[in-house]
Amino acid sequence: MKAENNKIPTPEELQRDVAEFLKEKYGKNVIIPPEPNAVGSDPGAGREGKKETFKINFDLKPTELERYLKKFVVGQDEALEILSTKICTHFNRMKYEKAHPEAEELVGGIKSNVLMIGPTGVGKTYLLKLIAKKIGVPFVKGDATKFSETGYVGGDVEDLVRNLVHEANGDISIAEYGIIYLDEIDKIASTGNGYGPDVSRGGVQRNLLKLMEEAEVDLKTPHDLAAQMEAAMEAQRTGKVTRKKINTKNILFVMSGAFFQLGDIIKRRLNQQPIGFQADNAQLTNPADTVEVLKKVKTEDLIKFGFESEFIGRLPVVVTLNSLDVEGLYQILKSANSSVIQGKKRDFSAYGIDINFEDGSLRKIAEMAFQEQTGARGLVSVVDRLMLRYEKILPDTEIKELRFTEKMIEKPDDELDKILTSYYIKKFQKRFLVTNGIVIVFTEEAIRILKTMAKANDITLEEECSNMLRDYEYGLRLLGAEEFTVDESIVREPKKRLEELIKKTYEKK
Ligand SMILES: Nc1ncnc2c1ncn2[C@@H]1O[C@H](COP(=O)(O)OP(=O)(O)OP(=O)(O)O)[C@@H](O)[C@H]1O
Ligand SMILES: [Mg+2]
Repeated sequence: MKAENNKIPTPEELQRDVAEFLKEKYGKNVIIPPEPNAVGSDPGAGREGKKETFKINFDLKPTELERYLKKFVVGQDEALEILSTKICTHFNRMKYEKAHPEAEELVGGIKSNVLMIGPTGVGKTYLLKLIAKKIGVPFVKGDATKFSETGYVGGDVEDLVRNLVHEANGDISIAEYGIIYLDEIDKIASTGNGYGPDVSRGGVQRNLLKLMEEAEVDLKTPHDLAAQMEAAMEAQRTGKVTRKKINTKNILFVMSGAFFQLGDIIKRRLNQQPIGFQADNAQLTNPADTVEVLKKVKTEDLIKFGFESEFIGRLPVVVTLNSLDVEGLYQILKSANSSVIQGKKRDFSAYGIDINFEDGSLRKIAEMAFQEQTGARGLVSVVDRLMLRYEKILPDTEIKELRFTEKMIEKPDDELDKILTSYYIKKFQKRFLVTNGIVIVFTEEAIRILKTMAKANDITLEEECSNMLRDYEYGLRLLGAEEFTVDESIVREPKKRLEELIKKTYEKK
């Protein structure tokens, strides 16, 4: 490491150099802190990698937001109503407070942080991403299980706040109105779920507490050596020490999780499942029933579940999402905004293939996805699985259109075979007609044999036809044929049959 010139290194270069230096000096034992964006959160989520400029819509009305969300989200009416209202109010209230700086601070006022309870794949993340987009605020998604109390393993909860700044393209004033979404929050409850040491989980809850209310977060991670050195260098160069901080007062926190065991706790409180009585859990395995129970959640249940009361106290808005039934899944597929179908269409468009789904196929897909019990996520995996063969093989052809039918789901191999057979036979017929002016017709049996041969020779059906009927191109022209039927006997003994044919014709003359 030597100073080559007076060039100021970028933070990345600096971090690399410092890491190298430390390793050399102290060996492998030194901890090289990860880059702040590398762990625990997914800052790109929701922005699809595109950097945008933010224009925060503080004036949005609850019904406007609700109407917008309804265009994308199927079902979940109750969640939509609560979220639209509370989140719009949150932003309108910030606008009010900005406009009335003279208004007395409401001591102990609680902001509308949200707890979302619901099974996987029913739209929790989707909803929040849509809301952040509509309001025009940066959005960061993280996973509660990735954090530890000390921040050594995984990341530190403050990284989430720093990532908001990153999402806001460095604009702290925008980041301070962002939304932080933390998934798998049920995994940091401190009892009963068999996940990591309790101490750490309680610690993560306490670290989150501070942020959820109001905290000042240093833009530079204390353990980010490169950032610290960069700051020191900047101070030396400018003679000023700038300590950039982000205030979390207006940041909206949304915590979500599936809360599997919570249903039992609620039932017990409601006396529906007396302790000691070995109730059959069949009821609770039905997702719709589970949701009905979860809707009755109270603070005391969440505390029993393993949350500190202070933590729950900072999540005043509780939203329970419904599980999706077959009809709901079907509606998601039908929706013009469905990312499942649009995504698959795009996959095929990338190969120049226009694909359309017959209604019956969508119903079938919804039924299959329902069996998977992973909500709308099941749709993606079912569609992927069902279409894989088509996605693999159609790009070999010049097929430009595919209508996906229910039959293709019931008998995938047969249907694909039919499509390919018809495609290659037509391709051969067309070429034969163009070069020789003769219409070739195949009997079913002839096609069946040709297909077997093509497979054995590992060539396409069209190539098999061309090879087999090569001599017929000249032969049939010679005979002045306009149309010719290829039957089983020709396919079995092409040379012999052609000779016979020619002989017979000349005998006639
Ligand atoms: N109610 C819904 N309406 C329309 N689309 C939905 C709905 N629920 C889920 N989807 C689709 O499924 C995808 C996955 O859903 P999402 O990521 O919101 O699940 P989730 O509830 O956050 O699940 P997890 O707990 O596994 O994170 C969404 O991106 C969206 O395309
Ligand atoms: Mg999610």
